[in-house]
Amino acid sequence: MPTVLLCPPHYFDVVDQKNPYMSRESAVDRVKARTQWETLCGVLQQNGCEVQTIDPVDGLEDMVFAANQVFVGEKIGYGKFAVPSRMVYPSRHREVPFYADWFRARDYKLIDLDYGDDYLEGHGDLLWHPDGSRIYAGYGFRSTLGGVEKFAAAMSEMGIPVVSLQLVDPYCYHLDTCLCPLNNDAALIFPGAYSAEALASLHKLWKRVHLLTADEAHRFMGNGIVINGSYITPHMTPPLEAILHQEGLTPVIVDTSEFEKAGGSCFCMKTFLP
Ligand code: ARG
Repeated sequence: MPTVLLCPPHYFDVVDQKNPYMSRESAVDRVKARTQWETLCGVLQQNGCEVQTIDPVDGLEDMVFAANQVFVGEKIGYGKFAVPSRMVYPSRHREVPFYADWFRARDYKLIDLDYGDDYLEGHGDLLWHPDGSRIYAGYGFRSTLGGVEKFAAAMSEMGIPVVSLQLVDPYCYHLDTCLCPLNNDAALIFPGAYSAEALASLHKLWKRVHLLTADEAHRFMGNGIVINGSYITPHMTPPLEAILHQEGLTPVIVDTSEFEKAGGSCFCMKTFLP
């Protein structure tokens, strides 16, 4: 059974501007946020997922975005591992030890990187190829190229190649906003989010590259969760629906309006566990 880790949005709020989506113009409705989060959990469960949670911490307003604090994986001969992130923003940096403890208590091997001045933001910028054969690593806004290189050196010890991809659109400040693997052959991408070199490597590495528009990407339609033949997404357009149909996926819409005020949606709110 697929298992996901989420963090209840008890202390979720928008208190500063970590990305262009965050403004204090419309305050977070905490009751609505709770309902949306519970709906997401329910949809994951209906799609055969076991949902595990980590306790939220007062003062860590973005801790609900459970994709960012560690990178999680499993490698035959090595076991389950977690790489703690180094987050750019101080409040987010304070989330990391809580997640690291959660994974340590469940016998994951923790791989601590020596970041120096570099940053690396977990599954926000690091995405597995569905079959586990490689990892895509975005850098430019949050994770740094140096952070990605240090991560790649650690992964190479396990024989896992890492493809680095430079991000150039501030509205796609994390890779999970502009790359979504649909299966081993097909991915959704927003081309405007990448440097020319990054875009060329994506086209080389995927058999089928489906393009999102800027509007679709900036409304988090590339931040979906692929599970059990479903594509969990906050919004839908007819062209995206046609792409999903071609790839054998059924869209399931989950409203994440409150979390979008913080610059995140479905994918950002969970981490798949091995
Ligand atoms: N407010 C959070 C931040 O700026 C949102 C994180 C969204 N997570 C993601 N994986 N894209 O850090």
